[in-house]
Amino acid sequence: MTNNKKLIIAIDGHSSCGKSTLAKGLAKHFEYKYIDTGAMYRAVTLYVIENNLHEGKTIKEEELKKAFEEGKIKISFQYNPETKKSETLLNGKNVENKIRGIEVSNLVSPVAQIPFVRHELVNLQREMGKEGGIVMDGRDIGTNVFPNADLKIFLTADAEIRAKRRYKELKEKGQDVSYEEILANVKERDYIDSTRKTNPLRQAEDAVLLDNSHISIEEQLQNAINLVNEKLK
Ligand code: DC
Repeated sequence: MTNNKKLIIAIDGHSSCGKSTLAKGLAKHFEYKYIDTGAMYRAVTLYVIENNLHEGKTIKEEELKKAFEEGKIKISFQYNPETKKSETLLNGKNVENKIRGIEVSNLVSPVAQIPFVRHELVNLQREMGKEGGIVMDGRDIGTNVFPNADLKIFLTADAEIRAKRRYKELKEKGQDVSYEEILANVKERDYIDSTRKTNPLRQAEDAVLLDNSHISIEEQLQNAINLVNEKLK
């Protein structure tokens, strides 16, 4: 369904609660562009790992800053017509699979709390979305990236349910992970994401809260389509 109005739709919420599934579904339905901002923080994290810019969970911030300043970290997306999926590129290289692994998941929250990293990526996100006709998902889209978004959805689900879903997904991809490890990661990211100083995860005052613990993907999508249609009237 298309309409001349090109809305900006912001989807924020906790880790692993299906934001990207909902965002992709909405983008497909309304023929909008989908932008996965988590993938951008993940790509920076992969750069940190591959260039040894961390010691445990401590990031070598000076060196990372220098890499940004020297233009060594370029993030973009490309549509793959074969898989019909969007892929994340780091310096022109497809890193879509690598950024979804547990190694990146375990380090991404410390990277995402660094103010200059957020500043860089938020600028890029605003640039990517400025024309409208986009669904953008993340943690601070409705509160910070696009505070004037036409529709804001805040998605959540019980931590155990989120961990079970993510565990199943990673197992299906052949990754060697345990449920306990995933649950610990989900809880740790919730904590870091919502307590960090710069643009923490929180529900915007004008966001619609959707808890998908006990509803299907289809029901959730239909609810969101109805919300968008209201805005398009
Ligand atoms: O959505 P995701 O799980 O792929 O996001 C990965 C991490 O990136 C998440 O733990 C928090 C961070 N993130 C963020 O701080 N701000 C965003 N807009 C998107 C993600």
